[in-house]
Amino acid sequence: MSTPAPLTDATLREAMAAELAPRLLAHIDRVVALTDELARHHGLDVALARLMAQGHDLVRAVPPAELLARAEARRLPIDIVEREAPVLLHGPIGALELRERFAVSDPRVFEAIWHHTWGHPDYTPEAWAMFIADKVEPSKTRKWKPLQRVHRIAFEQSLEAAALAYLDARLKEAVRDGIAVHPLATLTRNHLLRTRAGT
Ligand SMILES: [Fe+2]
Ligand SMILES: [Fe+2]
Repeated sequence: MSTPAPLTDATLREAMAAELAPRLLAHIDRVVALTDELARHHGLDVALARLMAQGHDLVRAVPPAELLARAEARRLPIDIVEREAPVLLHGPIGALELRERFAVSDPRVFEAIWHHTWGHPDYTPEAWAMFIADKVEPSKTRKWKPLQRVHRIAFEQSLEAAALAYLDARLKEAVRDGIAVHPLATLTRNHLLRTRAGT
């Protein structure tokens, strides 16, 4: 009996392509390409980072009400910020469905995708590469200027410094617009501040 070939980003892409619109697939392709670049630049596990990037937006196009319904059906804890903006649930639901429907079994990939909206204090370097690539892929940096700085920091300093710059920019925007901040955005930012301070 032959053992199944390990899941790669290419085989996962093939499996996902049937259910994703070309626009979303194009975003994912750009994120995979930039993740690859960042992972190489920082000497990381490129195959692992690419797999995280390939899977990250599996259910990004599922309508908000449906995401909320899927989260409720699974009895996931739902934060009030997520209830008001159910699109934020596409990370957790995507991670769960990748495991169930696409045989994505690596817990590092699962955790990275679950938390890809705000990052996580326990993120691996590869997860940070995927996170940053998702935020600063070319079509996004064109639309929101602060992202150009995040992109620069990711290559010139570190992925964690870039993640902090990103969360800072989002926080400034939230304060300016009077919108709620997700608790995990604060936890992750506090962690990155502490790491930067070396404490
Ligand atoms: Fe996403
Ligand atoms: Fe994305």
